[in-house]
Amino acid sequence: MKYDIVCEGVRKGYNTGGGYIEVLRSIDLMVRSGTTVTIIGPSGSGKTTLLNIIATIEMPDDGKVIVRGVDTGQQGREELSELRNRSIGIVFQNDIFIGSLPLIENVLLPLTNRKEMSQELKMEIEERAKNLLSDLGLGERLLSMPSQLSGGEARRASLVRAIITDPDILLLDEPTASVDRENKARVLKLIESAGDKTILITTHDPDLIEIADEAYSMDYGVLSPVP
Ligand SMILES: Nc1ncnc2c1ncn2[C@@H]1O[C@H](COP(=O)(O)OP(=O)(O)OP(=O)(O)O)[C@@H](O)[C@H]1O
Ligand SMILES: [Mg+2]
Repeated sequence: MKYDIVCEGVRKGYNTGGGYIEVLRSIDLMVRSGTTVTIIGPSGSGKTTLLNIIATIEMPDDGKVIVRGVDTGQQGREELSELRNRSIGIVFQNDIFIGSLPLIENVLLPLTNRKEMSQELKMEIEERAKNLLSDLGLGERLLSMPSQLSGGEARRASLVRAIITDPDILLLDEPTASVDRENKARVLKLIESAGDKTILITTHDPDLIEIADEAYSMDYGVLSPVP
């Protein structure tokens, strides 16, 4: 597949208390398979909205979103959920964990949907998850409850959870937000080591442009290439 993500004329608006706002104004974006693309832009410019639409969590008002050759507008809920499960790893802007489960179980949660996976493979992945968490400085946090984690710790754990299922596509919404310098270097290294995947990053952080093959800036719902 040449392009894992294609957006054509994607528009999205919201009715807010103060009236209607246009958040995405006809976005065209093509992300070549196996490349890393970073979108940088100010707060409120529409980055998360675009990422959530590509993740098929939100639907556009107009336009097309094709993910790994699948026209997402033509699919039902179950097909979309399967597409997400099979092909997409997501780091949400706000980390979502199940409060009653320790960190390691939260990180391994996406595997519980993989009925076809052998117990042996699941154990191998659990080992890998523990190693990745250690690499990101969370080796002592495996049994911590989500409420006990700092913002930066939760961010790093989310990244491991997104990567652990070996998805074709990684969608990372501000993966370095509230991560300190030392850990940021580790996060960048982990993202770079996943460079065979198709990675779309949204951020305020110019360092994430450095690791990208292509970069765009988002300004009030309009995307332009960063030279
Ligand atoms: N569900 C919603 N209802 C109404 N307005 C919304 C909704 N979701 C987002 N918005 C508005 O859309 C605009 C774009 O939001 P979005 O979260 O995409 O921005 P962003 O670029 O990710 O910002 P940040 O860098 O702060 O995360 C904002 O003005 C926001 O208030
Ligand atoms: Mg955002």
